[in-house]
Amino acid sequence: MVYVPTRGDAPARIGPGVRQIPEWGAKTVDSNVYADPTRYELERERVLRVSWLLAGRSTEIPNAGDWLSYEGHGETVVVTRQPGGGLAAFHNVCQHRGPAIVGPLGGCGARRFTCPYHGWVYDTTGLLVGVPEREDFSAEHLEGMRAPAVAADEWGGWVWINLAGPTAAPPLMEWIGDDIATDLGRFQMESMILTDKLEFDVPVSYKAIVDGFNEVYHATELHQAPPEFTKAARGTAFHLVGQNSMMFVPNPARLAELNETWDHHRNTICHYVVFPNTVFNCNPDQIQVFNPVPMGVDRTRFICWELMYDGDADDPEYQTYRAGADRHWEGLKHVVGQDIAIYEQLARTKQSMGYVRNTLSDRECKISKYHDTMDRLIRDAR
Ligand code: FES
Repeated sequence: MVYVPTRGDAPARIGPGVRQIPEWGAKTVDSNVYADPTRYELERERVLRVSWLLAGRSTEIPNAGDWLSYEGHGETVVVTRQPGGGLAAFHNVCQHRGPAIVGPLGGCGARRFTCPYHGWVYDTTGLLVGVPEREDFSAEHLEGMRAPAVAADEWGGWVWINLAGPTAAPPLMEWIGDDIATDLGRFQMESMILTDKLEFDVPVSYKAIVDGFNEVYHATELHQAPPEFTKAARGTAFHLVGQNSMMFVPNPARLAELNETWDHHRNTICHYVVFPNTVFNCNPDQIQVFNPVPMGVDRTRFICWELMYDGDADDPEYQTYRAGADRHWEGLKHVVGQDIAIYEQLARTKQSMGYVRNTLSDRECKISKYHDTMDRLIRDAR
């Protein structure tokens, strides 16, 4: 685990085993990374096809035969719950002449999937099990045919997929890493309930959206954060862990307890980015998951999930908790609207000759590291 210090009189650290890595301080990032179609194709091939990506909540597919689909960066995938409780996933592509086998949503209790064009039939793992007028085809061509398998796994109550496939993908927990699995794991997302989900079609690169969640610098101007928040936020701790990162933003109302206990779960906003596009924003009593799914070089489906803890709806204590959490989420939806407004301003300049580079500060070190990781993965995959 590594740590980039802020300057001035900020709280010194959160968490053990820290060291300084000043190389991730002030840097520049070329603006082409957001708008270059050639670069985007390299990301599709060398990053998005080998990374673990969020596909949905485990509770969306609780029973055997339940399924959901993933749509992004030109790929469409079906994830199914198997009779043994595990998952199978496969490319949603009919191997006869290529159309998607199922629609873009999900369903329950499926035993087979039938292509709507000529009726080829696949089982819930993607294996071809039926071909009308089979005798007209070469038996050799059809032998063992299947929609190509995709790796699928679960952690934190989430369904994750990796397009590299079950044999080539690294283990999901290796990708998330011990630091994030342990620290984020404390929130026990698997026991939380989904209370809201928003989707926006945004005309900018998914990376521009991730950037916004990789710093807290914008909160003062864009979100009109009060001065005490801005002052406390200068004590933000940044942990760069493998290709992922963590960021702990002190709650100004709980600074005394934070300085006394170093309990960041209770006294900061805990923020985690699992590369390349899964963002967890954790308050002590609720979590927002932000998932910008690339749909093109400069177009993104931006999904926002709201999780709260479950409880007895008749319990007055739980009613108080839910009312407070609901109020907080209403406020955060306003904040998301402000973020969307900035993406629209970024969309206006994405082709401008006046936009050449980003000039980043020490406290935008997570953005520097993120783009460096993207560069490295593209370079090393050659
Ligand atoms: Fe799917 Fe023909 S394209 S059955």
